[in-house]
Amino acid sequence: MKAIELRNKYLDFFKRHGHAVIPSAPLVPENDSSVLFTSAGMQQLVPYLLGEKHPMGKRITDYQKCLRTGDIEDVGDNRHLTFFEMLGNWSIGDYFKEESISMSYEFLTKDLEIPVEKLSVTCFKGDEDASRDEEAAAIWEKCGIPRERIYFFGKDDNWWIAGEEGPCGPDTEIFYDTGKEKCSEECNPSCGCGKYVEIWNNVFMQYYKDKNGIRPLEQKNVDTGLGLERATMLLQGKETPFDTEIFKPTMDKIKELSKNYNVSSARIISDHVRASLMLMVDGVRPSNVDQGYILRRLIRRLVRHLRKLEIEFSNLELIANTMVNSINNMYPELEENREIVIKELLKEKDKFVTTLEKGEKEFLKHIDEVKDKEIPGELVFRLYDTYGFPPEMTEELAKEHGKTINMNEFKELFAKHQELSRAGSTQKFKGGMADQNEKTIAYHTATHLLHKALQIVLGEHATQSGSNITEERLRFDFKHPEKLTKEQLEEVERIVNEQIKRDLPVTCEEMTLEEAKKSGAIGLFTNKYGDKVKVYTIGDFSKEICGGPHVARTGNMGKFKIKKEEASSAGVRRIKAVLIK
Ligand code: ALA
Repeated sequence: MKAIELRNKYLDFFKRHGHAVIPSAPLVPENDSSVLFTSAGMQQLVPYLLGEKHPMGKRITDYQKCLRTGDIEDVGDNRHLTFFEMLGNWSIGDYFKEESISMSYEFLTKDLEIPVEKLSVTCFKGDEDASRDEEAAAIWEKCGIPRERIYFFGKDDNWWIAGEEGPCGPDTEIFYDTGKEKCSEECNPSCGCGKYVEIWNNVFMQYYKDKNGIRPLEQKNVDTGLGLERATMLLQGKETPFDTEIFKPTMDKIKELSKNYNVSSARIISDHVRASLMLMVDGVRPSNVDQGYILRRLIRRLVRHLRKLEIEFSNLELIANTMVNSINNMYPELEENREIVIKELLKEKDKFVTTLEKGEKEFLKHIDEVKDKEIPGELVFRLYDTYGFPPEMTEELAKEHGKTINMNEFKELFAKHQELSRAGSTQKFKGGMADQNEKTIAYHTATHLLHKALQIVLGEHATQSGSNITEERLRFDFKHPEKLTKEQLEEVERIVNEQIKRDLPVTCEEMTLEEAKKSGAIGLFTNKYGDKVKVYTIGDFSKEICGGPHVARTGNMGKFKIKKEEASSAGVRRIKAVLIK
């Protein structure tokens, strides 16, 4: 079965079971600056899982384009992908465990004709927050999964939350037995050896978690996710997604074009070409910030691997067209934009090739000066600063010469350089911030100050539900049931202006979501997959997950003034504010 047939079967099945099909949200979430990319199907449904009415009803299904960037360095093994598609079905306060599990079972065993012997499931084993999910296990057993293939695990495996605070609950995961040997006597679905591959996750959102703990929700939801590429691979009996029709023609083309083939580089190229094209279809362009920077990294990395395979750079056009030909039936928007996105891809490739050539020459000129095994950060920075030569590339070349690089020293120099260029009178930031101007950056930081001030004045429930920034103003949506009083608005303004006056330093750290949570950062925690997030800290005042960029210090932002406070939607207020210099 091809991927597109699996997608259609899935949507048809849930349509037959009373679900409305909604379109995939774009890869760049609308009105949500806390995450760079859509990385799960439920992201666009958060307000409805929290209680808002969905215009399409209580049963929803879709396919969702997703991008997970935490895995960039892992792509090249046999299963990681950056861009992937997640099939999902949701009950928004409608059916619950019984129907959800029965439908999943029916779809897998009847529509997909997977022999029941191939399936194992895991359920939540229970702790102080919620009891052991015997209910789910009993339903599985009734469906036909024998007890010995029903496993119980703790929160790490069988609990899902869409954020630090919000609806959450136990989940049950469905695994496919690839028929490989057990890795040990204890081999089970959570061991990750590759015998059992997860295909579907059904989350029973029956609780609400906030700072005070976990309480039952009035509205019980179901949120599920099935990875399309992985399921396609299993159904086709293939070892990796790269062996399915989505990637195979591109993989073959790469092999044909390369003079020094290795499969890992070929996977990296095919994955990154697909992800880059899909990002550009959704409007992302290479740049030095946010989504654009991730796109730039994907393209640079794939160009580096073209070089490794000794493929003529000009052949990227052929490779990209092969990819479009393979998936244009799944994403008509890609076919519609074929010319423009391939042109952009090649443009960025050309830019990087020039950089590579110059940088490599310089690298070779200087490498003999380095007597130690480690190349000092200073040289790495010089190559970056003068020639735009990326540190990852220096690292790669260093490896080829049996050396390493001092990345920490490079990072320190890079940070210092950012400070300096900010101190200059240029309107634009250099380094990591070339494409944003000072005004939007200041508004970005003001948004964090406002967010925290609202939580101080109104309470911790006043969390962000959207934000939009132009050079002229910021707009910020947050959860609060009623109109703010004049006093509250004045107090919020006062607090924000106080932080500006204090000239607080703004610092950024990268960490896993788990570490971010522990550090007390606010922001949407929509991903449990170990992606790295950036946490911006403003003095002792605020800590928030965000893509950035931000000012280096709050001092010169101007005076913060709220222009308007109004309702945005049920339970959500909207503030428009300006910074006056
Ligand atoms: N939201 C759940 C997941 O992403 C279904 O696994």
